[in-house]
Amino acid sequence: MKRLLVTGGAGFIGSNYIIYTLKKHLDVSVVNLDALTYCGNLENLKEVSKDSRYSFVRGDITDSRLVEELFKEHDFDWVVNLAAETHVDRSILDPNVFVTTNVLGTANLLNAARRCWEKDGVFKEGVRFLQVSTDEVYGSLGAEGFFTETTPLDPHSPYSAAKASADLIVKSYADTFGMPVNITRCSNNYGPFQFPEKLIPLMINNCLSRKDLPVYGDGLQIRDWLYVEDHCKAIDMVLRKAAPGEVYNIGGHNERTNITIVKTIISLIGERADSSVDERLIKYVEDRKGHDRRYGIDPEKIKNDLGWYPETGFDEGIRLTVDWYLENRSWMEKIVSGEYRNYYERQYGEG
Ligand code: NAD
Ligand code: TYD
Repeated sequence: MKRLLVTGGAGFIGSNYIIYTLKKHLDVSVVNLDALTYCGNLENLKEVSKDSRYSFVRGDITDSRLVEELFKEHDFDWVVNLAAETHVDRSILDPNVFVTTNVLGTANLLNAARRCWEKDGVFKEGVRFLQVSTDEVYGSLGAEGFFTETTPLDPHSPYSAAKASADLIVKSYADTFGMPVNITRCSNNYGPFQFPEKLIPLMINNCLSRKDLPVYGDGLQIRDWLYVEDHCKAIDMVLRKAAPGEVYNIGGHNERTNITIVKTIISLIGERADSSVDERLIKYVEDRKGHDRRYGIDPEKIKNDLGWYPETGFDEGIRLTVDWYLENRSWMEKIVSGEYRNYYERQYGEG
């Protein structure tokens, strides 16, 4: 049995990943360490909460004593570090917590892993630290070309700068101590359990409550969208098959402008839930500060080395996603009635 520590497992990707890995493999047990910040939600994990191979610990990755004790108690083989502050707009409003969690939290996990795994300068056989990063560390593309693993890091937002810093700390533990690590850099994810501060669930929620759909700037910025389960599959393959030290970009060549995404959601909601929802809800608002124009991933390396490919095309994935939110309205309603209201007012100037 492999003992896996997943951090941030109550968030969007973390909960999808824990469900994915427990379903796919019988040889793994998972401890989910999550601080349950505003976006951590144990309801996402209902499906696995009674699985004897799963346990939850509420705690902060910056709490070195707690992390140390967890390593002593569970003697983890693998760490998948997903815990992070993740929203660019929030990082513009309040950058410090991004540095604390994303950089210091990662360093803290690395220290505890090293203490547990290294003896006389040699790391235990089979251990691995997987840092889940983002394509945003590469900065912004022009109209042509893609991010490869050798594209220089050039982050622009406090979020992506903190993620890039964490990547460099992880790399330094490999270079300095020989720690077996991997870094994955994925494009924008979408799917079930995504917190409605992010573009796709925010637009779904606003359509359903017939609120304005706030499109930043000209709406022609481009993101490269990947269905969350395909990201989970990639993390799983890297953890189990990749050579130590390798970095992998993850993406499925699914570039769309933001306005295309918004119009697609309007049309799906119009068709499936409320025929009165239409493009008159679109409201162009002030652009995001430092807004990256285009992200696009070259996924050749992970395809060639590990045989990964995305299984869910965008048309299918966005339908599955809209349907999931329609079938789980109470999940969304609980969120938008809480702290989210304060954030929404601060960010968009209305309740
Ligand atoms: P999320 O915001 O939905 O979830 C983050 C989780 O981390 C939450 O459960 C939260 O409670 C937890 N957390 C936050 N601070 C913590 C702390 N100090 N200690 C312990 N737990 C803490 O994020 P997500 O979208 O699921 O992203 C997960 C990871 O994947 C992040 O590292 C993010 O940078 C990366 N990523 C996300 C995307 C995307 O499109 N969402 C794309 C590429 C990479
Ligand atoms: P987001 O989901 O925040 O992801 P990221 O900034 O990490 O890529 O935003 C995706 C794109 O959508 C980004 O270009 C900003 C834009 N956007 C809007 O136009 N309006 C919004 O209300 C939000 C949240 C995002």
